[in-house]
Amino acid sequence: MKKQFITLKSSFTVALFVLTGYSSTITAQQIISVKTKSNALILQVTSGKEVNTIYLGEKLANDFEYEKIQGQFRQGTDYSGIYNAAYTPSGSKNLLEPAISVTHSDGNTSLDLLYVAHKTTTVSAGISQTEITLKDPVYPVEVHMFIQAFYDTDVIEQWTTIQHSEKANITLNKYASANLYLKGYSNFWLNQYHGEWAREMQPEETKLTHGIKVLDTKLGSRANLFQPSVFMVSLDKPATEDEGKVLFAGLEWSGNFRTDLELDPLNNLRIISGINNAAAAYSLPKNEVFTTPKFWYTLSSKGKGYASRNLHDWSRNYKILDGKGSRMTLLNNWEATYFNFDEDKLKVLIADSKKLGVDMFLLDDGWFGNNYPRNNDNAGLGDWEVNKKKLPNGIGTLVKTAKDNQVKFGIWIEPEMVNPASDLYKKHPEWVIKQPARAEHYFRNQLVLDLSNPKVQDFVYGIVDNLFTENPELAYIKWDCNAVIYNAYSSNLKDKQNNFYTDYVNGLYKVLERIRVKYPKVPMMLCSGGGGRVDYAALKYFTDFWPSDNTDPLERVYIQWEYSYFYPALTIAAHVTDWGKQPIKYRTDVAMMGRLGFDIVVKDLNENDLAFTQQAIKNYNVLSNTIWQGDQYRLQSPWDNDAASVMFVNKNGNEAVVFNYSVNSRYEAGTHLPIKLKGLQSDLNYKVEEINVYPGKKAAVQTAVYSGDFLMEIGINPNVTASNSSVVLKITKS
Ligand code: GLA
Repeated sequence: MKKQFITLKSSFTVALFVLTGYSSTITAQQIISVKTKSNALILQVTSGKEVNTIYLGEKLANDFEYEKIQGQFRQGTDYSGIYNAAYTPSGSKNLLEPAISVTHSDGNTSLDLLYVAHKTTTVSAGISQTEITLKDPVYPVEVHMFIQAFYDTDVIEQWTTIQHSEKANITLNKYASANLYLKGYSNFWLNQYHGEWAREMQPEETKLTHGIKVLDTKLGSRANLFQPSVFMVSLDKPATEDEGKVLFAGLEWSGNFRTDLELDPLNNLRIISGINNAAAAYSLPKNEVFTTPKFWYTLSSKGKGYASRNLHDWSRNYKILDGKGSRMTLLNNWEATYFNFDEDKLKVLIADSKKLGVDMFLLDDGWFGNNYPRNNDNAGLGDWEVNKKKLPNGIGTLVKTAKDNQVKFGIWIEPEMVNPASDLYKKHPEWVIKQPARAEHYFRNQLVLDLSNPKVQDFVYGIVDNLFTENPELAYIKWDCNAVIYNAYSSNLKDKQNNFYTDYVNGLYKVLERIRVKYPKVPMMLCSGGGGRVDYAALKYFTDFWPSDNTDPLERVYIQWEYSYFYPALTIAAHVTDWGKQPIKYRTDVAMMGRLGFDIVVKDLNENDLAFTQQAIKNYNVLSNTIWQGDQYRLQSPWDNDAASVMFVNKNGNEAVVFNYSVNSRYEAGTHLPIKLKGLQSDLNYKVEEINVYPGKKAAVQTAVYSGDFLMEIGINPNVTASNSSVVLKITKS
């Protein structure tokens, strides 16, 4: 509902106008409001037609009071009048970090963006979209700001389109997706993430100081390797799991991103996020529409847990491929064989998949290449024909063996890449990203193919299409991306090299879009040498992602804990492997917190380990819907306790599972206090029973019935100790 407010300029504003020389008359100031269940984003069109953010926070009880907000602040002088611009232009009166910066076709670098119109439409039940048209009064440049609000989950997505009708191309020097303004808080605490191979999602929390903190990547592909775009900002003080105000956000873009967090001279926080403009000033032809990627955010006044549950609901409903569906358990051969396998070995593993009780066998790297066989990681990428020596009867015979064993068959590809030792590299050097006059530089002995080139897009699409055409019963694809981009240069883009990083990612999306038109449902895992790529643009095409090559279960407790703030459990691929020193029970219990898989040599399991694993998979099948579709509560953090505790409660509140893991091996480390459960109903009774008990071992927790009130007020002790290093509790309404 749109509301118009008439406001008189305060004497303060008039004084500012005198000081800065801007003239203005007293006119109606229009309010544009976007609301979700708990929050409001209030923009105001000033008398000078600028669109500013006057509020982003919890919804007020009275709509008419939003206009009174500004009058309560005495923070100082905004010399430009647009510190709080809803989309800050540059080169005119702006003094701070811009959201957009252009060079016009005549070389001029100034831009102003003034309000022309806005409209709010209903996209579908519970989703509204506000579109604000902004125009430069001097140059024919137009920006449309889009704000999509998902009412029930408190998530907002923002993006823009940019177009012009100048005589020649203009250059977009910066073209952010969104420009937020948070005002009214004493401090801002940034929780960001850094990482490396096998060390993904390491959190760091700091109080933001004045100036700009930049979160970014310039790696091109595998772009999140050092830093993902997701972050949290706690308002006033660091939020906890259940208390405090906190904003979660991230960019839906699988390439270079940049987020500026600028604490401005008035102590307010400006957040500007979009495609990274480093080496990427975009040349935009006349009348072509440039669409920036979506920036999502959600604001919670009830701590991080609430923000993450909202986000999980939103992503399962609207973002993730088959987000409301189920996932397959699997046996993967990567760590069992690496490149060293043949048909006979794989047939045994396929039979082992059945023996274990999983749904699928996943054939990993090493099945392709003949002139340059893929027997290690320095050859074969690009040559996607079956290696005749290892697999003389092709993939078909493996798919059939899988079928005979009543399991599905999946396969690994890394279609964006090429090894110099390959037929493809010899045949199509012009498809490879490399500087023509410079020495090649490799990441895992490989180079990246130029997806800005439509011919390469066809080639990559063809790899997937051929696999499905030849093997219609192929049930799953693991899509890997192990290299970053060095020497960024596209022979296809000629004099528009600065468009490369952006066109690469859009080229990737074109391929994925085509795949999804023809194969809408086939599940695919998004892998990038671990978690080098996940984001909510990619997950539109993928059902799950590989968070890390580090499968040491102790490390995984932390890695999965942090990912779980942003991504629901059904997307987080978690495999039991031989990494780490923990027993198979601990490894399996940790993997059950996500989309369960195995990467072990089944024949090496002793009788008890095998029996345990088979039973655990059965237990998982019973509880998986609660884990995938339920509400997740992080009960006790591994960062500051001897044991981590994570709970999933199904949407009916009648089934839950609590995973408890020891993370400290010091003397008498364990759960000394009961752990308070969450998300149950106080007035119901629940049976608590331990599952995944190792054969021959006494349960750590005796089966008993407790009230929801008791479980949430007093809690239950899972009795995690050195000898009970992981304890899984099933909670059922009794
Ligand atoms: C990457 C992946 C692994 C595996 C290998 C295969 O490192 O993260 O899971 O698929 O590639 O080469």
